[in-house]
Amino acid sequence: MLNLITNLTHKIEDRAVRAGFAFRVASGYYRDVIEREATLASITKDDHILCIGGGICPFSAILFHQRTGARVTVIDNNAACIPKAREVIARLGLADFLTVIHQDGDCPDLQFDNFSVIHLALQVSPMERVFARAVAATAPGTRLLIRRPKKYLANIYCPSFTGALDDKPYTTHKSRNIGCTLLYIKQDGELNGDN
Ligand SMILES: C[S@@+](CC[C@H](N)C(=O)[O-])C[C@H]1O[C@@H](n2cnc3c(N)ncnc32)[C@H](O)[C@@H]1O
Repeated sequence: MLNLITNLTHKIEDRAVRAGFAFRVASGYYRDVIEREATLASITKDDHILCIGGGICPFSAILFHQRTGARVTVIDNNAACIPKAREVIARLGLADFLTVIHQDGDCPDLQFDNFSVIHLALQVSPMERVFARAVAATAPGTRLLIRRPKKYLANIYCPSFTGALDDKPYTTHKSRNIGCTLLYIKQDGELNGDN
């Protein structure tokens, strides 16, 4: 089911990339979400954000940069997304600030320690493991933003990923599928995502 949703999202994003008007409408969908997430994590121009799961059109990464001035590195594990995402960024004249890399967030070799903010898209899979890797490999103080689905969609997007984050600060969204974004801050001396 998650694969179906990811494929559908890719189709929508592909159209949005090819049509300027559709791009503006689709980025409007993310604008309020990014505003709330940037505020929740107090993101500034001095941050370097890692966006895990950028898709064909990395709206979130682009809007994070436009909203905060922060540098953004975007990864996606689907190779077909990478050239298209780079093209969008180049067309917007943002190539000096946003980098797109073909990489899996679930890869043990992924270097997380260059980033002060790590953002996990709603469709990241396996969400629980990518989150645990990020927590284990980041420096204390790193802020992790984790998007969670609306309740009625919870079984489609990695259903097991809940309890450990229930007491964390969060912001809710009006969007159709993103229910909320949780903020998790890596603590000093914390070695993994269990505590
Ligand atoms: C369709 S996009 C949605 C993101 C949206 N464009 C945005 O700007 O927020 C979600 C992407 O996450 C990617 N993805 C899922 N799991 C991943 C993982 N473990 N590592 C990297 N990318 C992943 C999928 O390939 C998909 O392209």
